[in-house]
Amino acid sequence: MKDNPPHRILIFDSGIGGLSINDEIKQLVPDTAVTYVADNRIYPYGTLSEQALIERIARLFPRLIERFQPEAIVIACNSASTLVLDHLRELTRIPVIGVVPAIKPAAQYSQSRVIGLLATPGTVRRAYTDRLIQDFASHCRVIRVGSHELVDQAENKLRGLAVDRAAIRRVIAPFLEEPALDTIVLGCTHFPFLRQELNQLLGDRVTLIDSGQAIARRTDYILKTLPDRLQAHHTSADCFIFTRDNDSAHHLKPHLLERGFASVEFIDH
Ligand code: DGL
Repeated sequence: MKDNPPHRILIFDSGIGGLSINDEIKQLVPDTAVTYVADNRIYPYGTLSEQALIERIARLFPRLIERFQPEAIVIACNSASTLVLDHLRELTRIPVIGVVPAIKPAAQYSQSRVIGLLATPGTVRRAYTDRLIQDFASHCRVIRVGSHELVDQAENKLRGLAVDRAAIRRVIAPFLEEPALDTIVLGCTHFPFLRQELNQLLGDRVTLIDSGQAIARRTDYILKTLPDRLQAHHTSADCFIFTRDNDSAHHLKPHLLERGFASVEFIDH
């Protein structure tokens, strides 16, 4: 018998990439009730202007918080976290956990001191990313590749569509041309879903590092340190929300139900 009802957390991404974070959290902290919000209304985030993304988050989050009352928020999107964490933390006192590129562990892990950052076009050029590299990888040469195409490829794969390996190869060509490179940061939550294809193309010499497990540990810690709740939460069911009702979201519905989401809903925000 459980003493406590599960914690409610909100996991947020532009699309379904945040499922890679959801999977890690569920593995470490199974007793959570997840509301996953995919902001497919303005997907993809990685090519939006910084101003547009900041405005979108500032408009959307007060509504999401009011509606879903999460106890913690996980921004499972590097493109958003590298830009909006401070804004969000000004909006709410609910703990906000941000997924940002795992530059620090990659720089510690690399023997050759040549590392890659594979992320969205937005994430690779953020000032936040510059600071991460300056603070934790100043002893490394960092090759940055920003790609929106790989985000689409990951979305396609989860929809059961074929992955275009030749396209992936073209995107990662700058890494293939660097014989000394031994570590790549997957700085977009969509990319762990392409791990198999990337490993095949890059071979054994390159290790891929993402932020999933670290975020799960952080989430676990945050939930354990939350103050006692006055009101019990009655459902442990996970729910998947899209911000736009369109064909591609409907197409994903069976897959999401199969993954354990009890319901898939659409909100008009
Ligand atoms: N999954 C998101 C990230 O980690 C971004 C995908 C997009 O461009 O919308 O950056």
